[in-house]
Parts: sequence; C-alpha cells; structure tokens
Amino acid sequence: MDKPKFYITTPIYYPSDKLHIGHTYCTVATDTMARYKRLRGYDVMFLTGTDEHGQKIQQKAEAAGVTPQEYVDNIVAGIKELWKMMNISNDRFIRTTDDYHVESVKKIFKKLYEKGDIYKGTYKGKYCSPCESFWTETQLVDGKCPDCGRDVIDAEEEAYFFRLSAYADKLVKYYEEHPDFLLPTSRLNEMVNNFIKPGLEDLCVSRTSFNWGVPVDFDPKHVVYVWVDALSNYITALGYGNDKYDDFEKYWPADVHFVGKEIVRFHTIIWPAMLMALDLPLPKRVFGHGWLLIDGNKMSKSVGNVVDPVILCNRYGTDALRYFLLREFPFGSDGSFTNEALINRINSDLANDLGNLVSRTVAMAEKYFGGTLPEGRAAEALDDELVGMIKGLREKYEREMEAYAFQNALVEIFKVISRSNKYIDETAPWILAKDPEKKDRLATVLYNLLEGIRVCAVLLTPFMPETADKILDQIGASEEGRVYESAGSFGVLAADVTVHRGETLFPRIDVKKELEELEAAEKAAKEQKEEKPKIELEPEIAIDDFTKVELRVAKIVACEKVPKAKKLLKIQLDDGMGGRQIVSGIAQYYEPEDLIGKKIIVVANLKPAKLCGVESSGMLLAGNREDGSVCVTFIDDSVPVGTRLH
Ligand code: MSP
Repeated sequence: MDKPKFYITTPIYYPSDKLHIGHTYCTVATDTMARYKRLRGYDVMFLTGTDEHGQKIQQKAEAAGVTPQEYVDNIVAGIKELWKMMNISNDRFIRTTDDYHVESVKKIFKKLYEKGDIYKGTYKGKYCSPCESFWTETQLVDGKCPDCGRDVIDAEEEAYFFRLSAYADKLVKYYEEHPDFLLPTSRLNEMVNNFIKPGLEDLCVSRTSFNWGVPVDFDPKHVVYVWVDALSNYITALGYGNDKYDDFEKYWPADVHFVGKEIVRFHTIIWPAMLMALDLPLPKRVFGHGWLLIDGNKMSKSVGNVVDPVILCNRYGTDALRYFLLREFPFGSDGSFTNEALINRINSDLANDLGNLVSRTVAMAEKYFGGTLPEGRAAEALDDELVGMIKGLREKYEREMEAYAFQNALVEIFKVISRSNKYIDETAPWILAKDPEKKDRLATVLYNLLEGIRVCAVLLTPFMPETADKILDQIGASEEGRVYESAGSFGVLAADVTVHRGETLFPRIDVKKELEELEAAEKAAKEQKEEKPKIELEPEIAIDDFTKVELRVAKIVACEKVPKAKKLLKIQLDDGMGGRQIVSGIAQYYEPEDLIGKKIIVVANLKPAKLCGVESSGMLLAGNREDGSVCVTFIDDSVPVGTRLH
C-alpha cells in the first residue's frame, strides 16, 4: 500500500544578512512536524527556501556594490548553513531566483492574464522620487515617505491588477465550509473582519519602478509583485509549470503551511484566491504561529533586538535550543524570549529531569547487573501507575501533535519522565540491591524505567533527533524499539537488555555565571559586527582650499573601453557646458552600457591630462571598497547637469 502523503512548508525567508531565532522558531517547528510525520510512516515533503526578489534586495545590493544575484547568493549560503546547524531535514530548498521557479511564475501570471483574472490598469498612489517607491495613503508616516521621510507626490503608473475583489464571497464561503482551514481559529475573525468585510480591493501585481524580479512574460518592463512570486513557490517547487520536478500531483494540496501571524493574510486571502483563479485545490490548512518577543516587542532586525541562534547552539547544543523553542511557548501565541528562561529550561527539564533519569537508570543497570539485566521479574502494584502512563503516552502525544500543540505533547512526555524519577525514589533500587532476594524485583524496576525512557525517547525524536538517538543507544534499544509503533507498547526492550553508558546528555549550567558569560558573548559578537576601522584623516584644510575644487554634476552620454588599456574607460559627458571627455580607471568594475545615462560628479576644473594618449578633461568621483574594488559616486537623476556642488 502507498504511504500516506504529507506536504508541509515554512515561509520562504527574505535573505537578510542574518536570520535570528524568530526565524529559527518557525523552521524548527516545521522540521519537528515533518520528522513526526516521517516517524509515523508518512511520505513527507518538507519545503523551505528563500524569497529573493524585490526592490529592497535591489537597493541593498546597490548599496553593497554588488549585483542583486551576488548579494542573495552570499546570504542564501549562510541560511543553508544555519539550517544545517539546526538539523533541519527539509526535502527541498527553493530559491525564487531558481530558473524553474521563474519560468513557472511567468506562466502563472500569463495564465491568470489570459483568463481575465489579471488585467492592465493604472496604479494611483503617492510616489517618493528619491526612493522610486509608490506608497498608499495609509503607509505614509505623517504624510511623508516611510522609508526616507521626504515629501511624496501624487503619481500614477501603468500596472497589472489581480481581481482579488471577485473572490471575497468565495473565500468567506470556503472558510465557512472548512472551519479548520486557518488555525488557531481566532485568527480567522481577524481576516474576515479586518480585511474581507471592509471590502477587498483588486491587488496591484506588477511593478515598473525596479527590475529585480520575475519579468512579466508578455510585458517585460513590468516585474511580478513579490508576493505573487513568493506564494507561487509552494507549487512551483513541486513542478507546477516546469519540468524540474514532477511531484505536483503527488503532494498538492499542501497539508499545512506554517507561517508567522503577520503573513497569515497573504496565505489565507491572496494565496487561496490565486489558487481558485488557477482552478487548483486549496491547501488543507494554514497555521499562523505567534512571535518571539523581546521585552514585549517582536524580535526583528529593524528593531535591532535579535538573538543569534548560532551563539546559543554553540553553547548549549542544537537540541537544547530546539526543545526550548517548542516547550516554552504555545505555538499559536506570542512568547517572550529571555536567556534566563532558556538556561532555566535546560537545567530543569533537560539536565535534571531527562538527563538525570537516563544517567541514573543506566548507571544502576551497570552497577547492579554489569550492564545486562537478568531475565527474572517480580512486578508489584506500585508499578501500575508508571506502566499505565507509559502505555498511554503515545495516544496523548499523538492527539497533541496532530493539533500542532508541540508544547502539550512535550508536557505529556515530561509527565512520564517526572513520574519515572519519582518511581526511582519510591522503589529505592539502592536498597533493593543490598538484598540478594530482591534481585528480580530490582531488575523489574530497572526494566520499567528503561521502557519508559525508550518510549519517551522515540517520541522525542522529532524534537531532539540527536539526543533521542543517544538515549536509545545508551539504553540498548534495537531497531524495533525505535519505531513509532513500538512507542505504543510496553515490553519491547529485550528482557536481558544491555545498556551502554554514554556521555552526560545535558550538563547542569550555573545560571548566574552563564548569564554573564552569554551576555558578554552576545555583546562581543555584536561589537565585532559593528567594529569600524580607524580612519586617519588628511591634515585639515580651510574652506578656501575646498572652493578651489569645482565639483559639478554631469551625465554620461557615451562610454567605451580604451583599446589596449585594460583599466580605462573613455567617457563622454553632458556637463551643461557643451560637453567634455574624461578618462577613468574603472574598466574592471563597470561595463560601458551600465554607465550610460547615469549622473556622476566630476572635478570640472582639473587640469586636462592624457591617459594612454587619450585626452581627459577632469575626473569623476569614485572610491574604493574594502576589497579594493572601485565604486563610482552616482547622483540622483533629479539634480540637473551642470549643478555645482559645494
Ligand atoms: N518572505 C516572506 C514570506 C513569504 S512566504 C510565501 C517573509 N519572510 S521573513 O523572512 O520576513 O519571515 C519568515 C518567517 O519568519 C515568517 O513566518 C515570520 O513570521 C517569521 N518570523 C520573523 N520574525 C519572527 C519572530 N520574531 N518570531 C516568530 N517568527 C518570526 O515574511
């Protein structure tokens, strides 16, 4: 029989220079769910990836002096490293810059256009010229551009629109017929009351003010709106509209999209409407999880309150961080992150309860029986409660996991762990060990403990894969004792099981000392990032010295390489004074066609000179980056040629 399928996704992440533990949270949750389903025997497709287009990326790349592709390549490599460190078991990683995705998005856009769900219209809004950005009235801050704070003007541009308004009723009907489409259910009211009821407007789905995006196939001066591009990843990664993969029939519709609460509206309004328009089935579920907060604010790069998962993993191990994230916060709600909560959780649950239980039990089996239990047994009524809890654990766990209640699932496991520790105190194996008559009883106590540990470890596998494996190795579990089925039964370990003592799973942490050290490490990492090189300035000059230098704005009207001079470009300028020619040593860094039309600053009264025999009347302003490459100073197009700069 075919295995049941399970398709789960994370959002695709913006390549910002460093992902923080807020991002890690969502990916760890998705990974845990994917591992849980695999453990249950599902054929799982777990997709994650990166959302790499858009004006912001283009601007960041320009600021960094690299191409947008170079910019994202570098960051995506870091994201992949992070997921490796977090032990993320994604089956596929999609980049929106992947050729196959771009090809599919073009087809999706075209199909919607041909069906009449996308039409050409005029986008009216507020425009900030320096930022080249359109804003809606509500996005403005005090009537000014929210990015740079400058004045905006009324403007219009030709754009394509998606007929979102036509889907409002269909969406509401869909929600009513599928009450668990969006979880937690509380988020649904927000969608209906805040977004759908006030009236859904058609959505502007193309831009012409920048070009780092998927070009509209039939009108390439437009690029596809990033959210249309990004949301499509969930189907393009399966092969919809491309030949790269052939899994669409197999896995679509998705079983669940895990997303942060602020992007629920894109996933429960725009995405389903797009799918309806494409005549495709809708995802079965969207789960909108809460945020990690720091001092009550969302952890985010723009606020500057981010916590680096790399530092935490290096200090406490990946599994400890994975465990903490899913144990500390209910998945659907916001939660406050503190270092103290993390360390306390590691100490109490992982070192004290779990770690201690495993190390005590294994140590006793070694001490009293040389590692291998004898086969004789002597049960007592005292065992019933623990054994009953062990037998009933998988069912409770499964109920919670199926409801995405990671925290509750862990609570159930740790109830058995705590009960087991109490059972050690109740049965006092060290006293039984003194009495040769009690050998069978002692073996029974240890066997019960080992079975409890085994069941807990199997069910912990999705949360802490490495730790669970180590535990199962220590207690001598066979292959059979590691599978999900076996977690529903008691008595799977061999009666004469042999244990193997291993390293301490979670060493206890001195909270006060550790907090100081951790804070110092986090501070040092931040400072290292921010550390600026010391710059030695030239001797001071008087203003008269400066005014001797005549800086003027000029536009590059023609440009070509100087033959036989690898470094030189011959540049013709419109300088507002009849034009001039300059020669500049930037040929290794700029292609002539990239410069034509750009405005630059030229030292207009520099004594003419000849470079490689070519006349140069002035020089353009440029600087060196850290790596020695050259960056020309471009000036905003709104400044007229000939303008003198002071
Ligand atoms: N690129 C879009 C998603 C497109 S999906 C078709 C995006 N990217 S993101 O990098 O900004 O965010 C990715 C995910 O990380 C989102 O689900 C977001 O909610 C989550 N988180 C970002 N900061 C977070 C916290 N502080 N806490 C929890 N999750 C957080 O949105």
